[in-house]
Amino acid sequence: MNRPSDIHTTPTAAGEPTDNARETQPQGNCQLSIVNCQLSNDCPLSIVNSQLKRIIVAIDGHSSCGKSTMAKDLARAVGYIYVDSGAMYRAVTLYALRHGLFKDGHLDEAGLEALLPEARITFVRDKDTGLPHTLLNGGDVEETIRGLEVSSHVSPVAALPAVRAALTRMQQDMGRERGIVMDGRDIGTAVFPDAELKVFVTASAEVRARRRYDELQAKGQPAAFDDILRNVRERDYIDSHRAVAPLRQAPDALLLDNSHLTIDEQRTWLLERFKEKTKQ
Ligand code: DC
Repeated sequence: MNRPSDIHTTPTAAGEPTDNARETQPQGNCQLSIVNCQLSNDCPLSIVNSQLKRIIVAIDGHSSCGKSTMAKDLARAVGYIYVDSGAMYRAVTLYALRHGLFKDGHLDEAGLEALLPEARITFVRDKDTGLPHTLLNGGDVEETIRGLEVSSHVSPVAALPAVRAALTRMQQDMGRERGIVMDGRDIGTAVFPDAELKVFVTASAEVRARRRYDELQAKGQPAAFDDILRNVRERDYIDSHRAVAPLRQAPDALLLDNSHLTIDEQRTWLLERFKEKTKQ
């Protein structure tokens, strides 16, 4: 499989991408551009094989249920591109915050729509960890977009039809050649309804809150378990009740409740499903 092993962005003027990786050309009025990132092909566990059928793997599910971990693991193992669609919504949210588009907590929707063409989201692969980093207009925002400020403002941004339309179009372009694992909320329903493998991941709210709690503890950012649980439930509600592309299990998606699975068990489960779908 002739895939670039090194991913980098070329923060050129919008519309003049020069990168050698698969790029998304801006469409219509939208000048956002994305350069795909790819996890390592030289992973010892890799089952990279040029004969492998190239499919689209869509992984959707509730927040904090470990979708990204399983999506990244699979992409690494099979030499596919991995895209975290949530990072794109987070990057647009940071862009809105930086442009003062939240006033008294309310999003200036028209303002964001007008400025959207100026926001350029790209991904690069961290050379040390092999993991993707999100860039906003050339600056690495990977850490910032995971912070509380972005997390607490992202919902209204993700609900905005203009934002969804622009990001959905780019995500679809990224999957044009297939050979991609993308995770999010609407990947199997709205972005790639024709994906060959769709998984809908969930776990009980308590289990997800516990995982988040442990993560924050480990980072030295302790928070009250009850607050985290409330936040998990709120996000579930918002994600599944918004008007545009709400979180839903696609009728043809496999349901994976990982409440009682280890990371290794879910990795094995997904790899088996992938092998079934790619058997020639
Ligand atoms: O997966 P995450 O928590 O990083 O996602 C951030 C936000 O973006 C969250 O509010 C859900 C939203 N999102 C979305 O609406 N559609 C996607 N495909 C991915 C994320």
